[in-house]
Amino acid sequence: MKNKKFFVENLIKWNRNQNKSEMPWKGEHDPYKVWVSEIILQQTRVQQGLGYYNRFTRAWPDIRSLASAKEQEVYKLWEGLGYYSRCRNLIETAKYINRELGGQFPDKYKDILALKGIGSYTAAAIASFAFNQPYAVVDGNVYRILSRFFGMQLAVNNSKGKKIFAALAEELLDKSNPGIYNQSIMDFGAVICKPALPLCAECQLQKRCVAYQQKMVYRLPLKENKIKMRHRFFNYLVISHGGKVFVNKRTEKDIWQNLFEFILMETDNMLPDEEFLESSKFTDFIRSRNYRIDKISQIFKQKLTHQLIFGRFFHITLKTMQKPLNKYKMVSPKGLATLPFPKFISSYLKD
Ligand code: ADE
Repeated sequence: MKNKKFFVENLIKWNRNQNKSEMPWKGEHDPYKVWVSEIILQQTRVQQGLGYYNRFTRAWPDIRSLASAKEQEVYKLWEGLGYYSRCRNLIETAKYINRELGGQFPDKYKDILALKGIGSYTAAAIASFAFNQPYAVVDGNVYRILSRFFGMQLAVNNSKGKKIFAALAEELLDKSNPGIYNQSIMDFGAVICKPALPLCAECQLQKRCVAYQQKMVYRLPLKENKIKMRHRFFNYLVISHGGKVFVNKRTEKDIWQNLFEFILMETDNMLPDEEFLESSKFTDFIRSRNYRIDKISQIFKQKLTHQLIFGRFFHITLKTMQKPLNKYKMVSPKGLATLPFPKFISSYLKD
């Protein structure tokens, strides 16, 4: 399929020409070090994991040294990373490999997968990075990228979805360069196709990305909800006029009842900035008013019990006001500080 070829080619091209991320585990072929890095990175952001990885591999540069390490010292170094079972499994598995396998890290996928604490993701990472074997990594990054690019409206957190995503990932894998392909997709997920603030504007895959084209980037990947989460998209107009700002008191039976907010325009999707500013919702409201847009914030996200709120703030100065905005109250910056706002807004104002 044309799109699959486009996806792989452009992913590799991005990695070759644009990917600036330089991390010590990149290009690493020592299975021990690949293993340590992937275990650390499982529940940890790359930036946070970096220092731990360096300290860990300096203290115990190979299986033998880890197998004979003082356990207390290993746990001490792990402090702050959390999920201590990862650390326990590293120690146990190093001892096992040292004792039972003569200190040789297994080089077959099946044998790697059989090790304690190693699941299909880590086994594929070790097999491909250390031994250049054709196994595709499938983790949260991969679910997110594939579901967005191919517009897959299929939950990733049940067995049917997992099977279909894994099959697609295997099909896409560049079999002649599995290590580079896997590293590219992991970095692409960490740098461009991020969960909360993806860099769609500079994404090389944008023009054939189904989620981007259909404005579903923020809805994908789909997860089967134990509790049904309603997604809502809030565009706040922070309109100033004569040193005061318009606010609204939420009186409806909805979230944040009795709290204050700015002028809200809720949309069915998170539209790109320009598109929102051209939508009739906005233009009908602002029409004939003499205004200037000063700033557009990034998109923020807040999880409530049954709703996921995505929102951003458009800062606008009204130069002259022909028609009054009667529905809203005007307050000074000082007055603003005394009003109760939902956390979504107050934390934005604090920054
Ligand atoms: N997250 C987990 N493994 C990774 C890797 N090898 N590169 C970048 N991010 C990662």
